[in-house]
Amino acid sequence: LSPYAVADHERSHARVCVVIDVLRATTVIATAIAAGARSVTTCSDIEQAFEMKRSASSDSLPLLCGERECRPIDGFDYGNSPGEYSPAGVGQRDIVMTTTNGTRAIDAASDCDVMMLACFANLSSVADAIIDEVSDVSVQDASSGSGAPPKASGLVRIVCAGTNGAITGEDTLLAGALIAVCHRKLSDTARFYDGPIELKNDSGAIALAAWQHCITHDKVSDSESLAQRLAMTDGGRNMIAAGYEQDLVDCGSIDVFDTVPQRDRLSPARFVSR
Ligand code: MLT
Repeated sequence: LSPYAVADHERSHARVCVVIDVLRATTVIATAIAAGARSVTTCSDIEQAFEMKRSASSDSLPLLCGERECRPIDGFDYGNSPGEYSPAGVGQRDIVMTTTNGTRAIDAASDCDVMMLACFANLSSVADAIIDEVSDVSVQDASSGSGAPPKASGLVRIVCAGTNGAITGEDTLLAGALIAVCHRKLSDTARFYDGPIELKNDSGAIALAAWQHCITHDKVSDSESLAQRLAMTDGGRNMIAAGYEQDLVDCGSIDVFDTVPQRDRLSPARFVSR
């Protein structure tokens, strides 16, 4: 549930990895690409971001975006609020982004073939993309040929950014929601005879239980009630204390676009629309 607390046995190589930082890095990256940004390249420190801008050609200077201690960085173009990212501001632009935890989670997840970024705003589309990826594996499995309908297979790893090494509620809830939506979609589809997902460790089970509790006990049923629930997480309280309450509404909005940021196969930290 937090990349800094991943046990060695949980680090097993997964072909597909999904990184989550609901508040706010993965929400912002997905929002920027949904608004028309050409790419978002993440980096871990501020000086590196300035250097990437200095070394870019003058006709395609990237926008510098991100935060430190939740706040915009001096000399940068945008901070880390999804509401800042509009088609007029970022359309057709390349972005360089550095944040405190989100970009570190992306680094921690780098050992995979397909890396996608999830937020509540693209929840269903990420689930569809995961199923597409595991379907490719199952089609290959089926071609070896028992004649039975294929079983979805393929390990998918979900990496939650957390905050400064601690597990956070908002990331855990999205991880659970993603597992639940994948489970429902796989169970609904006739392509597979064995829908249910096998959770490889307790982290997945804990995340799923947290999301189910959120629905049944906290009565989260839509974006509005989710934003209220996010306000009760550590990350949510930090956002409110820093004056970014509106970001909880944006980061809690469910299924508002279908953009899935996916790591460019040729670059370790450049994300484009899948
Ligand atoms: C992070 O990457 O640490 C977060 O996105 C923090 C924030 O948005 O302030």
